[in-house]
Amino acid sequence: MRTHLNGQLSKSNIGETVTLAGWVLNRRDHGGVIFIDLRDRSGRLQIVADPDMPAPFQISDEVRNEFVLSVTGRVRERPEGTINMELSTGEIEVIADSISVLSLSEPLPFQMDDQEIGEPTRLKYRYLDLRRPQMQERIRLRHKITSFFRGFLNEREFVDVETPIMTRSTPEGARDYLVPSRTYPGEFFALPQSPQLFKQLLMVSGFERYYQIARCFRDEDLRADRQPEFTQLDVEVSFMDEEELTGLMEKMIKELFHDVLSVSLPDVIPRMSYRAAVSRYGIDRPDLRIPLKLTELTDVMKSVEFKVFSGPANDAGGRVAAIHVPGGNRLSRAQIDQYTEYVKQYRAKGLAYIKINDIDTGRDGLQSPILKFLPDNVLSEILLKTSAKTGDLIFFGADKASIVNDSLGALRIKIGQDMDMVESCWKPLWVVDFPLVEWDEEGGRWHSVHHPFTSPKTEHLDMLESDPGNVLSRAYDLVLNGTEIGGGSIRIHRSDLQQRVLGVLGIGVEEAKSKFGFLLDALQFGAPPHGGMAFGIDRLAAMMSGVDSIRDVIAFPKTQKASCLLTQAPGGVDNKQLRELGIQLRKARVENPGS
Ligand code: AMO
Ligand code: AMP
Repeated sequence: MRTHLNGQLSKSNIGETVTLAGWVLNRRDHGGVIFIDLRDRSGRLQIVADPDMPAPFQISDEVRNEFVLSVTGRVRERPEGTINMELSTGEIEVIADSISVLSLSEPLPFQMDDQEIGEPTRLKYRYLDLRRPQMQERIRLRHKITSFFRGFLNEREFVDVETPIMTRSTPEGARDYLVPSRTYPGEFFALPQSPQLFKQLLMVSGFERYYQIARCFRDEDLRADRQPEFTQLDVEVSFMDEEELTGLMEKMIKELFHDVLSVSLPDVIPRMSYRAAVSRYGIDRPDLRIPLKLTELTDVMKSVEFKVFSGPANDAGGRVAAIHVPGGNRLSRAQIDQYTEYVKQYRAKGLAYIKINDIDTGRDGLQSPILKFLPDNVLSEILLKTSAKTGDLIFFGADKASIVNDSLGALRIKIGQDMDMVESCWKPLWVVDFPLVEWDEEGGRWHSVHHPFTSPKTEHLDMLESDPGNVLSRAYDLVLNGTEIGGGSIRIHRSDLQQRVLGVLGIGVEEAKSKFGFLLDALQFGAPPHGGMAFGIDRLAAMMSGVDSIRDVIAFPKTQKASCLLTQAPGGVDNKQLRELGIQLRKARVENPGS
């Protein structure tokens, strides 16, 4: 239907007759001559309809934005003064010999070049939103990412295997999406939270190297970087230890950035233990672009009279820590109050601070509502440990360790952003040495930090039952600029050890059998040592496109409330369908807010 793509044409085509096709981006009537910007997947080009050619001129008079046209004409140089060097085709135009309208368009709900379209409108008319060049670019970049991964892994003898979507619950820790069974009334399939168990079975089957671009489903609280269905690059290998496996994954991610963005990540991606990450940054996925760190003050505050500090400092699960903000002295009272409000979201009860007006004049050079509660030796210890200088400010958090970590960890990022301290670069980091399990206060039991198939470190096997909280696992996460882009582990490949770990988690033999007995069985038939990793493709694509929300790199995403504004899913079903499934609704349906 066409001889060229718009974006392919240049001055070298001047004089040629071409046939093009595409959408009308805009139409300008310059009294006598009509200009149409015609857009196709490759770019845009100016079409000129001259009254000397009555047929195309008449049609171009009637076209409107987003009509689909076929245009035949001659490429010519644009007259001086009308050249647009910002466009690759800005030096040429096509003078139309004939124009035909292939498709009409109703007036649009938004203009294609509008930058401020509300997200609900974009999601409702997603097919139009996706027509916009920036969305085209993002979805194409995502394709480059998945193509790169396939190429990299195919070259290394990885096999792409599909695993079931209708399956049993998989233990990644979120709520399941369920699918009722018609043939077994009252029974349900669960959509997979990840292909975890199947990829381990494929190792038992001897594939040795597996990958899949896999859809995962998790019914959890959504955020900008979480969708109810999302995509992983899922990988599993046999006969590799964590050094070999993370080495291969690191090479893959470095080559990805190099090939797709021409970015060189650091030669060696640094490693940090979970414990160090939480102690220095309050979080297990630190954004290393921000220079601020937490300073440990728990010991220093043990003997002070100020109960707000000494209480948590003397409590086994408590922590007192500080953030030293260089130049923070200029923060106004109102700004400090705003930060105090901000940390309350993270359950902090307050946000004490000290301003350093003059470091050389001791107590007199400091300004703070809590100064009177702290003796001289403690003040000098604080200044020493934080390395604060004149003109700086120190914020304090004192509470249960988890509250101090959450609140100061978030405050560190907020201040870094507010004060323009975020370095513009890529800072990847391996976080390693995660605890195997953590104590769940509410449930009153241990639960897995990763998932129950993660191997404990061999040297910690002895304390598995006696001191589970101090057992480290063979898990690793890859963090990039504060986002967890991937995670994985070496797995347990022996059924006796798997049973022991399940025992620690309080999952009894019967429960284990009913939930994943097939895996425990499989481990009894020559399971090779194996491990793997999964990367969040949506998160990678969002970061590599420079957008904040993964919804901007998913063709048809769900809203924050897990509904689809385009198809209006979820939606009701006929009573007949419910009857077939043996399901009766307890309450009248609540209308989906999207519909
Ligand atoms: P995990 O649960 O850490 O590991 O998931 C791997 C990666 O998937 C991404 N991710 C998400 N992206 C978008 N929306 C979500 N709701 C969401 N949840 C997770 C993250 C994360 O790092 N089976 C294990 C992997 C393994 O052990 O091999 C797993 O699923 O980028
Ligand atoms: P108060 O004695 O409650 O008035 O608190 C004195 C100062 O300590 C105020 O600046 C509070 O914001 C701060 N503060 C109170 N509780 C905490 C806490 N748990 N962690 C850090 N600072 C706190």
